[in-house]
Amino acid sequence: EQIEKGGYEHFMLKEIHEQPTAIKDTYRGRMLADEGLIRMAGVDDNLERIANAKRILIVACGTSWHAGLVAEYVFEELARIPVEVEYASEFRYRNPIISEKDVIIAISQSGETADTMAAIKLAKEKGAFAFGVCNVVGSSISRETHAGAYTHAGPEIGVASTKAFTTQITVLTLMALKLAKQNGTISHTEFMTYLQEMERIPSKIEKALEGDEHIKMIADIYKDARNCLYLGRGFNFPVALEGALKLKEISYIHAEGYPAAEMKHGPIALIDEEMPVVVIATKRGHYEKVVSNIQEIKSRNGKIIAIVTEGDEEVRDLADHVIEVPETLEPLTPLLTTIPLQLLSYHIAVLLGKNVDQPRNLAKSVTVE
Ligand code: AGP
Repeated sequence: EQIEKGGYEHFMLKEIHEQPTAIKDTYRGRMLADEGLIRMAGVDDNLERIANAKRILIVACGTSWHAGLVAEYVFEELARIPVEVEYASEFRYRNPIISEKDVIIAISQSGETADTMAAIKLAKEKGAFAFGVCNVVGSSISRETHAGAYTHAGPEIGVASTKAFTTQITVLTLMALKLAKQNGTISHTEFMTYLQEMERIPSKIEKALEGDEHIKMIADIYKDARNCLYLGRGFNFPVALEGALKLKEISYIHAEGYPAAEMKHGPIALIDEEMPVVVIATKRGHYEKVVSNIQEIKSRNGKIIAIVTEGDEEVRDLADHVIEVPETLEPLTPLLTTIPLQLLSYHIAVLLGKNVDQPRNLAKSVTVE
C-alpha cells in the first residue's frame, strides 16, 4: 500500500497532487490546440443529436453532482443549450418530463452509483439520448449509456473525490466547447483562446498546489471549528458546495456551501467570531459583489479565509487569510479554486487524526439505494 501511495501519506493527498497529470490525460488525443480541434469520439459520432438537444439534463450524486452544476454554467455560457441538473435520487422518483429531444448526461466516477444508473434507464425508456461521463472503464453506467467520454483520471482510491471532480469538469468543458463551436455560439477566436488557456491549466494547478504549506498553517488555526461556511458565486458557487462537502466527509466538521448572495437570506445569522467563512473571491465575474459580501462578514466578526486571484490586494486587506490561485478565464476558475479547498479539508482532517482515505460511514461507491 505504501508503494501505491507513491510516497504520499494518504491516497487523497496523492490524488490531489495527481490532478495536473490527470487533466493532461483527460486532454490526451482530444484537445488538439494547434489544429484548433477538439476530438471526442462519443460526441463526434452523435454531434447533430447532442448539439440540437432541446435541453441537456444532468444527473449525478455527491461530488459528481457538483461537477454537473459547474457544467450547467459552462454549457449555458458557451453552447447556449438549456441545462438542468438533478440529483439522480430525486429525478428517478419524481415522474420527470423527458422528451426524445433531450440529452441526458450521467456523471459518475465509479460508473456504479445505483441512483444514477436508475435515472439513466428511466430517461432512455422515455427516448432521451444518454451520454456517460465516467472514470471507471467498462463500468455499468458507461455500458448503459448510448455514448460517453471517460475522464481518464486513473484509479481514485480516497473516498473523498478529488481528481475525479476536476477531470469531470474538464471533460464537460471540452464537450461544451465542441458544442459551442458546432452551434456557432462562440467565435473561432474565442474557441482558440479557450483551448490555449486550457492547455495552461495543468501548470496553473501545479502553482495552486504550491500553497500547500500555507494552507496547512490555516488548517491548524481552524481545525477546532464546529461549523464552517463556504461561499461562492457564479461558476464558483458549485465549488463552494464541493469545498463544504469535502470538509464534512473527512473531518466531520459541519459545513455549508451557499451562493454568496444567499447569505443575507439566512446564513448570515450564524456569523460570529467563532465562524470561519471560506469565500471564493477570484477576479472577474462578480468580484465586487463578493467583496461586499466579505465586508458584511467582517462587520459581524466572522473569520474570513478568501481564495483570491494572484496579486489581489483589495481582499487581502479585508480577509484574515488569503490563498492565491493563478488567473484564468472565468469559466475555467473552478479547476483552480477547487485545489486549495481540497488541501484545506485534507489538512484539517489529518490534524484532527481522522481516517482521511476511509471516512466513517462512507463507501467509495454507493451501489445500493
Ligand atoms: C465525494 O467525495 C463522495 N464520496 C461522493 O459524494 C461521490 O461523489 C458520490 O457518491 C458519487 O459517486 P460516483 O461519482 O461514483 O457516482
